[in-house]
Amino acid sequence: MRGAMSADVIPLRARGSQPTLAPMLALTAPGMNSVNAVILDRMQSEIPLIPALAGHLISGGGKRMRPMLMVAAAELCGYQGARHHKLAAAVEFLHTATLLHDDVVDGSDMRRGKAAANIVFGNPATVLVGDFLFTRAFELMVEDGSLKVLKIFSKASSIIAEGEVDQLTAQRRIETSEEHYLQIIGSKTAALFAAATRISAIVAEKSEAEEQALDSYGRNLGIAFQLVDDAIDYDSEASESGKDKGDDFREGKMTLPVILAYARGNAEERKFWEDAIAGFRTEDEDLAHAVELINRHGCVEATRERARLYAQRAIDSLSIFPAGAAKFAFREFSNGL
Ligand code: IPE
Ligand code: IPE
Ligand code: MG
Ligand code: MG
Repeated sequence: MRGAMSADVIPLRARGSQPTLAPMLALTAPGMNSVNAVILDRMQSEIPLIPALAGHLISGGGKRMRPMLMVAAAELCGYQGARHHKLAAAVEFLHTATLLHDDVVDGSDMRRGKAAANIVFGNPATVLVGDFLFTRAFELMVEDGSLKVLKIFSKASSIIAEGEVDQLTAQRRIETSEEHYLQIIGSKTAALFAAATRISAIVAEKSEAEEQALDSYGRNLGIAFQLVDDAIDYDSEASESGKDKGDDFREGKMTLPVILAYARGNAEERKFWEDAIAGFRTEDEDLAHAVELINRHGCVEATRERARLYAQRAIDSLSIFPAGAAKFAFREFSNGL
């Protein structure tokens, strides 16, 4: 049972069957036990609403992808110390804070297979506890003491916020380009992955080239990951995501499946997309029609195809590192997206 007070490694929620995940899980299991212990310890507060709300989300699981990649990157760098455990917990807190805020902004009902915190606790408490986790993340970084690490995380944080704001202004704008979309997901999602993997190279005192390589792995993997996440929202075949499917459609988000379906559609289809993205067609039958159009033009597959390209770029970034268990785990992990 996944309890808030258990420090066990919380398994990734499967995205389909993933034998490719096993090497990464095996490589990072001991490190993730330590990271999870820090997460559970440092989400505490004397203000009872804080651990209650944070615990609601954290006990819901979550794949812990970013801290896991940090632990794996530390292994790849041959790092023997433990500094990255606190920093990985900080990254997960940053991520968790963005999820709390994101579900308020997106008006989402479900997260990690449960009612979202905003539904259970309301928007004000969710925003404020998000702020708590965000600032607790910075406390952990300051405890680590590296100004270089702090600089990378603070930069990533402002980029994430920029990405979310940029996305907000692109919402309900049918003319949003693939280029713009890539810029948005590069900021809102990939920046944190890049910072996470880079930090491990820094604590391991590796060269600038190795730092860059791990930054590039995280950035490309992050883009691939968000592409897959955006494909899943329209994929009737996809396994359970723990979130409400169709959220992106109802919110008029210009994600890649929609951008491609609009680009590839005939005049009638384009009219449908213009109305839907403007918010005039948000019923279940409209969503079903949207999925049909997306399938007609192979846009889920095309989005996944783009994701595979970025996942491959991620793998190729690591050429500087020697072959071994850690590199193998990274490669399999990217292949499994
Ligand atoms: C969700 O991230 C937000 C996106 C970037 C799509 P995750 O899918 O990593 O969320 P959890 O932590 O596993 O719930
Ligand atoms: C999640 O973005 C928040 C960040 C990446 C900062 P989305 O809104 O696209 O992701 P989900 O679908 O709610 O997890
Ligand atoms: Mg959202
Ligand atoms: Mg969002």
